[in-house]
Amino acid sequence: MTVATAPGKIILFGEHAVVYGRPALAVPVTQVHADVEVMDSPVAGIWIDAPGISLHGEISSFPSSHALRTVIESVLRTLDISAPPPLRIRIISSIPVASGLGSGAAVSVAVIRALSSHLAHPLPNEQVNALAYETEKLHHGTPSGIDNTVITYARPVYFVRGQPIQAFGVARPFTLVIADTGIPAPTKESVGDVRKLWQADAGKWEAVFDKVGEIVRAARQAIESGNTPALGPLMDENHALLQEMTVSSPELDRLVWAARKAGALGAKLSGGGRGGNMLALVRPEDAESICSVLRSAGAQQTLITTLQETL
Ligand code: PMV
Repeated sequence: MTVATAPGKIILFGEHAVVYGRPALAVPVTQVHADVEVMDSPVAGIWIDAPGISLHGEISSFPSSHALRTVIESVLRTLDISAPPPLRIRIISSIPVASGLGSGAAVSVAVIRALSSHLAHPLPNEQVNALAYETEKLHHGTPSGIDNTVITYARPVYFVRGQPIQAFGVARPFTLVIADTGIPAPTKESVGDVRKLWQADAGKWEAVFDKVGEIVRAARQAIESGNTPALGPLMDENHALLQEMTVSSPELDRLVWAARKAGALGAKLSGGGRGGNMLALVRPEDAESICSVLRSAGAQQTLITTLQETL
């Protein structure tokens, strides 16, 4: 049996504008993960077993555009294996689906790793990332590639679409609270809606994306220099620009507002928006109490994650 695991991720700054070439910052969230086991099977075919989403079956019975089928077929094509041995692939993920924590990309990355290793050709990160990106396109239409990149490399990333990844250092640890609205966030839709806005008035939205780009650069500098309290106001500014892009929602705004009122240093939605998760920068000693305020304000789930110093 071969196993692989991949963490969740959260975008700290720069979602949506990243689709238009501006930078974004994202970090792995190791408290949640996708775990995949691949084992030889006595029954012909490639069998998927994903009890969390009640999915069981042989992949050729899945629609040809099914994300799991495409990812498995792309691994087999890459390895030039036309007649794979009978296999069973078991997928267990604690990453909430469609919430901005990268569940789709994490499952893809873990499947690619476990399957290629089981077939005795473990793929290097660069190829894992490229294959996971192909599958992201099915989920999201025009994804920037940030999810698969952070999840493949499992470290904080300063990401610019189409450019080699830039890892960045964390000079001082900082703590985040992540809260889930419980509302599924169809990234494809919010990305499509922002595209319509941009198509109708590119000049206006390019200027908004530029402002987001400035925030992201300032945030990277704050993280690298250890001036982490500066991230709070930057989150607030980024959230206001995301509201302008129409990708917030009453539920996200309520959680963002509740976090700030409960003592967070700043808060914003994270990811595609409209639902899914928000995040807040908090003093470590306030993290638990802010989580309980967020749950009273409607959060379905909360997580506390601390970015450790890397320098
Ligand atoms: O909802 P998430 O966390 O998968 O992130 C979407 C991020 C966007 O910038 C909105 C889209 C993208 O492909 O980068």
